[in-house]
Amino acid sequence: MNWKLALTGVAALCLFVGAGTLLSPASVAQDAKTLKPAASFQSIANERERSVALFQEAGKVIQHPRCVNCHPATDRPLQGASMHPHQPPVFRGDGGMGLPGMQCTTCHSAENTPVVGQADTIKSIPGNPAWHLAPIEMAWAGKSLAQICQQIKDPARNGGKTMDQIVEHMAHDELVGWGWKPGAGREPVPGTQAEFGELITAWVKSGAACPAS
Ligand code: HEC
Ligand code: HEC
Repeated sequence: MNWKLALTGVAALCLFVGAGTLLSPASVAQDAKTLKPAASFQSIANERERSVALFQEAGKVIQHPRCVNCHPATDRPLQGASMHPHQPPVFRGDGGMGLPGMQCTTCHSAENTPVVGQADTIKSIPGNPAWHLAPIEMAWAGKSLAQICQQIKDPARNGGKTMDQIVEHMAHDELVGWGWKPGAGREPVPGTQAEFGELITAWVKSGAACPAS
């Protein structure tokens, strides 16, 4: 055993581990792609503060373009990371399914569909069996996380859902689940739907507190 060599190895390992804890741009980027487990919030003793912190973590999903693009503030969906108005122009129509002749299902099928011809601009068309626009009272675009939080709890603006139904929807709804498998050329929302469901469950159990502003 060459001790000098072994010690150099240990030192190098420490340096490596130490560097990993610094907030390098890479770890910040990584933080945006993952969700902290709900259990890691147990260390916050104040229940209200814990509840708010849980919702803020879940907000990394809720305020992501994958969700907000389909919860717009007007009758036109949004697209892409920049959340620009949908091209071509399409509008809500009856039940959020689009206008006659320009229904969502004209282009959005039951599954994400790879695009071959224009692969330099659009790599795939999003798809899901339930693809349609969220009702206007569920608009999230342009709202703060605090405003969205209040709205999600309000049966008049959440489709008449109880908090149990909100948990169920977030944790298991298949259209919500599309956010984690949005098709080629689109960034998925952070973490997994199961981790997101656990954050929302823990948020509701701790009193479903909303951020102050
Ligand atoms: C393709 C469009 C679409 C996408 C993408 C989408 N939603 Fe929705 N969302 C809807 C529709 C439509 C409803 C109403 C369905 C209902 O009430 O059953 C809805 C309702 C909801 C509701 C219940 C009402 C409310 O706003 O409080 C929640 C919560 C929700 N969505 C969360 C999400 C999350 C989280 C994501 C992203 C991971 C997401 N949605 C992505 C279309 C979408
Ligand atoms: C004429 C075809 C067409 C119609 C009709 C259409 N879309 Fe789209 N939509 C597309 C294409 C193509 C994309 C992908 C564009 C891209 O990724 O740049 C897209 C993307 C989207 C996105 C963005 C997904 C994301 O997170 O970036 C949403 C939301 C959306 N459509 C909702 C709808 C809704 C709701 C309807 C019906 C009211 C609808 N679309 C009707 C073609 C269409």
